[in-house]
Amino acid sequence: MSQRTLVLFKPDAVRRGLIGELLGRIESKAGWKVAALELRTLEKETLEQHYAEHVGKPFYEPLVEFMQSGPSVVLVVEGERVIEGVRALAGPTDPIAAAPGSIRGDFGTIVRENLIHASDSEESAERELKIFFPDFS
Ligand code: RTP
Ligand code: MG
Repeated sequence: MSQRTLVLFKPDAVRRGLIGELLGRIESKAGWKVAALELRTLEKETLEQHYAEHVGKPFYEPLVEFMQSGPSVVLVVEGERVIEGVRALAGPTDPIAAAPGSIRGDFGTIVRENLIHASDSEESAERELKIFFPDFS
């Protein structure tokens, strides 16, 4: 089943020069295509929509701050089971718990600066694609 997902390479990944490394892992998956890609410093308003489910949690304010701390890469990736697939490439939220071989497991240490975001369901993908690419169809 072909799907589209919204992916962010977070400011830590861009600062550390890991755009190529992360993009390479996505592009290496057979049949997956980058449908949109932009280097963008995310606005507070955009992040408040994106992370609405986390409002009120202790990590929310520092997360939104961190996500504005430099440019991110914003991508739309499409292909077979890409929603589940990019989540698998990323690994679990905590990079220390993430298995080596995953992006977070290979490059991360602290939970906030975990390099990559990927939509976690078809509903999230649809919602997030509209936030980041309102004119994309
Ligand atoms: P994401 O939404 O970024 O793809 O990550 P996720 O689903 O694996 O994690 P989620 O629970 O949605 O949390 C969103 C992001 O918030 C930061 N976070 N910090 N305890 C903490 O300090 C904490 N917990 C979460 C991470 O950047 C996480 O990816
Ligand atoms: Mg999430």
